Amino acid sequence: MIADHVLEHFSQVFAPVDLGHPLFGEEMNQGALLENAYIAIKDGKILAIGSGEVPADLIGPETKRSSYEGKFACPGLIDCHTHLVYGGSREHEFAKKLAGVSYLDILAQGGGIHSTVRATRASDFDSLYQKSKRLLDYMLQHGVTTVEAKSGYGLDWETEKRQLKVVEALNQNHTIELVSTFMAAHAVPKEYAGRGKDYLQLIVDEMLPKVKEENLAEFCDIFCEKGVFTAEESAYLLGKAKELGFLLRIHADEIESIGGVDVAADLKARSAEHLMMATDEGIAKMAEAQVIGNLLPATTFSLMEDTYAPAKKMIQAGMAITLATDSNPGSCPTANLQFVMQLGCFMQGLTPIQVFNAVTINAAYSVNRQETIGSFDVGKQADITIFDAKNIDYPLYFFATNLVDEVYKNGQRVV
Ligand code: NIG
Ligand code: FE
Repeated sequence: MIADHVLEHFSQVFAPVDLGHPLFGEEMNQGALLENAYIAIKDGKILAIGSGEVPADLIGPETKRSSYEGKFACPGLIDCHTHLVYGGSREHEFAKKLAGVSYLDILAQGGGIHSTVRATRASDFDSLYQKSKRLLDYMLQHGVTTVEAKSGYGLDWETEKRQLKVVEALNQNHTIELVSTFMAAHAVPKEYAGRGKDYLQLIVDEMLPKVKEENLAEFCDIFCEKGVFTAEESAYLLGKAKELGFLLRIHADEIESIGGVDVAADLKARSAEHLMMATDEGIAKMAEAQVIGNLLPATTFSLMEDTYAPAKKMIQAGMAITLATDSNPGSCPTANLQFVMQLGCFMQGLTPIQVFNAVTINAAYSVNRQETIGSFDVGKQADITIFDAKNIDYPLYFFATNLVDEVYKNGQRVV
């Protein structure tokens, strides 16, 4: 078949393998590093990929050819955990944080998530849309082509719905593809203080069915944390969500280990997020239940903690892991997935191949887009991130600098 466009002469291309399931444990060391490589695109999809001379049967009179000498490419990066849509920002809490007041203390004092909830409730659709669009623009510039986005700064139906509607609209209008997660169980709103169970019941009885009915989210998530929601409450909500057909994720073992991991394993959640405090038993359970570990090292960095999620241990135990930004105004104000990938190497001891698998094929499974993205398998979307780097090591070794040169989404050059 004749290609529309052939990208050729790449110094190196990383082609993850799609085994039909996330890469578990040692499988995370797999993937092809093609030298002097080409990628052929037809109708926005991958037509062929290989090393050396481009096969003549791919080239017709109309075929466009672009040379990428000295460049490194991989599948479009996937940021599989963000809190994209919110009002305001939290730099007014920065001094407190630097002075050592803990994240949960700031939250308990009515700041933190509550502060963002106030700002989000006060923001109309357009301002939320514009603000989130700007974040997506930054992400795209950093090589990201797909983003998971959670609600959870409304904590009332009207605002949660507004957040989800912003995600829906951005998914239609922005180059970046979005995957929507409903997370009204992000905190107990002030008006329900001391009545967390009532708030949870409101989510279950009124919000979840509407989200489903209006098809506003594919995943349901909850913040299982000391002082927020218990493991029992998390199991209750996620159990109900599962009955309605939602796929599940859970914020677990972020600051304290209180049983969220067991809930994830029991309910076969697609992923468990954070896992900084994961125990050996928890890791074994997740490996057994094939729960993907979404690790968010920039949050550890930004919370000024020194306990990074034990990524190597997880891989040794047979887990599949991903890396994501957790982009949000409090615990992790960033839009730079490359920095997260670098932390994966520097602070968690992952290899470059493990890191790139984490943000491509495994992240695709984590957001349930394995059929269309995450690898260069023929027929998948031609989502391609191109670095000003000669090989897979360089963009991780040369840190905290945006090395992304060009990005293709569905075969179109968008950066
Ligand atoms: O993943 N942990 C809960 N949610 C976010 C933080 C949200 C916020 O602080 O605004 C997180 O870290
Ligand atoms: Fe989060």
